[in-house]
Order: sequence, then C-alpha cells, then structure tokens
Amino acid sequence: LAIEKALGGPLSGMRALVTSGPTHEPIDPVRFIANRSSGKQGHAIAGACARLGADVTLVSGPSVEADPAGVATVHVETARDMLEACIGALPVDVAICAAAVSDWRPETAHGQKLKKDKAATASPADLSLVENPDILATLAARENDRPRLVIGFAAETDDVVAYARAKLTAKGCDWILANDVSPETGTFGGDHNKIHLLTGGAGGEVDIEEWPHASKLDVAARLAERIAQALGAAA
Ligand code: C5P
Repeated sequence: LAIEKALGGPLSGMRALVTSGPTHEPIDPVRFIANRSSGKQGHAIAGACARLGADVTLVSGPSVEADPAGVATVHVETARDMLEACIGALPVDVAICAAAVSDWRPETAHGQKLKKDKAATASPADLSLVENPDILATLAARENDRPRLVIGFAAETDDVVAYARAKLTAKGCDWILANDVSPETGTFGGDHNKIHLLTGGAGGEVDIEEWPHASKLDVAARLAERIAQALGAAA
C-alpha cells in the first residue's frame, strides 16, 4: 500500500472521508438500539480509496470488520459522535456515507440499568425516541467546506431507484448508490451488492447506471475508480 501511494495512484493528494457500520444508541448502560449493518461495504470503500492513493479517514460505528490497511480509522458508537468525528475530518475532497446511521435515539440514555417491574400488571418502561442528525445531509449542506463530491447510499427494499432519486434531492448530495436490501438479497451482512448509481441532481437530469451484481470489494473498487475520474476531471 505504501508503495502504491508513493507511486501516485489516481487519488493521491486527495482526501476522502468514509462512514461505515451501524450506530449504537444507548437506552441504558447495557442496552442499545442498533441495526444489521455489518460495515463490510463502507470498510471496503475506505480500503479501495486508500489503494488508489487517497488520504482516507474512516469513521466507523461498532463493526467486527478489521480496520482497513493504510486508513485512519476513528471508532464511534452513536450518530452524534459519528457526526462530530466527520466534521473533525473536514476538509476532504470526497465524502462517502455508507454507514447505516440510526434514524432515532432514545431521548434519555439512563445512567443505571432499567429494572423490570415485578408486578404482573406493570407495563415496560416507555421508550421515547428523538431524531438523530443526518450526517450525509449535514455534510452536503456545509457552506465553506463542503466536499467536492458527496456520496450517499439508499438502502431500500422496494422501488429502489424511485426512492433513491428522491433521496438525491432530499439529501443534497451528488451521487447515490442505490441498493436492494430486501432480506432475500442477503445484502445486509452478506458479501455481495447490487448497485444502481444515480448521478446528477441539483435541478439537472439524473443519470442512472446499473452495475452488475458484484462482491462488495468489487463495488468498492469500481466506486473508487469512478471517484478518481470525477475528481480528476474537475481538478
Ligand atoms: O435516509 P436514509 O437513511 O435512507 O439515507 C441513507 C443515506 O443517508 C446513507 O448514505 C446514510 O449513510 C446516510 N445517513 C446519514 N445520517 C443519517 C441517516 C442516513 O448519514 N442520520
């Protein structure tokens, strides 16, 4: 990896920020809200960008994936911590938000373990949820240090492309990688991904490219190449 960087890959001199994995939103010291994201795709993207020479910061929620070689990895738990670490990594040329950030968190993270009420008639403790910050939308809306290219994922179980198209506008990002995460596809936790790449937005035409079903490593390599093309062309 050091040699490839030294040789000057197509992303050398560029800074990349990648988010990956789920977030954990504490209920009390032993319980949390989470999701089934493995971090495989985000970690693979961070590694692929580094192999093309980029200076990469990976901000990862809890994941069993190893820290990718040649990448500065920051480990976080909650969405709010992830946002703070991302802002701290700016400025970057490209931000790729692959994390499955929890949309909500418990309003209160209790300091002590909640106890089960032994009375037969007792109902469980209420869990009030509040919305988490949207990291992708926040990065895309930065005034002075917006990355030149802001890329998000749209993980959907139905009408994948239609929802992704709406998401491109709603989040203010430049590209969306739409993927089907319905249980029968095995995408969550699996090693493969089926991608539609949507580019454009901002009032213009949206271009949709269908990528072949491929391993998450191949998807990452292809994305890193596309980023290098786009940043090279705009440089
Ligand atoms: O809104 P939704 O979760 O479907 O959008 C998915 C995209 O937005 C992903 O790129 C994800 O990383 C990003 N996201 C985020 N912060 C959130 C929610 C989603 O960065 N709070």
